Amino acid sequence: MSSIIKVDRVNKTFGTLQVINDCSIEVEQGSITGLIGPNGAGKSTLFNLIAGTFAPDNGKISFDGEDITGVPSDQLFHRGLLRTFQIAQEFSHMTALENLMMVPPQAGESLFNTWLRPSLVKEEEAQVRQKALDVIEFVGLKHVRNELAGNLSGGQKKAPGAWANHDGRCSGSVAG
Ligand SMILES: Nc1ncnc2c1ncn2[C@@H]1O[C@H](COP(=O)(O)OP(=O)(O)OP(=O)(O)O)[C@@H](O)[C@H]1O
Ligand SMILES: [Mg+2]
Repeated sequence: MSSIIKVDRVNKTFGTLQVINDCSIEVEQGSITGLIGPNGAGKSTLFNLIAGTFAPDNGKISFDGEDITGVPSDQLFHRGLLRTFQIAQEFSHMTALENLMMVPPQAGESLFNTWLRPSLVKEEEAQVRQKALDVIEFVGLKHVRNELAGNLSGGQKKAPGAWANHDGRCSGSVAG
């Protein structure tokens, strides 16, 4: 199997504090890989570097064979990489299913499409809804699909792993 994420000799310093020191790791494609260490060890900082929250001082980060060092997170999403958080960041006033349907970009985001191409918007929304239903069933939460996400338990909120990572638009997700 090949590596989907490659971190090569990365360093990150905050002021005088060297948090990441010559770090190299590889994550195999299709794997679920954990990183353990004591509080303050730098785990979240490493996730932030991979997920584009900030850039490393030096070193290189690759995703699916492409150099993504310093690429911001919004651009990384469209390249197939997203980050989820230790504490779930759900839209609490929307249902569990609606949360899973929040996958950009969608045709309905454009006013032009909603007026002039409503059938395209409708068709895509139906596909997104079906995919969201598949995921919610897969993670065993079909029974709470119409429940407000804010009412779900911590474990239920985390169960889909990455709320937005369900429709195949992202091949990697970094959680931490
Ligand atoms: N944006 C920042 N600016 C300054 N210092 C930071 C920043 N982010 C993290 N740090 C510092 O870097 C060190 C590593 O923090 P980090 O959050 O990466 O650790 P962690 O391994 O994720 O810890 P935890 O297990 O508590 O989540 C800590 O000393 C922290 O205070
Ligand atoms: Mg952390």
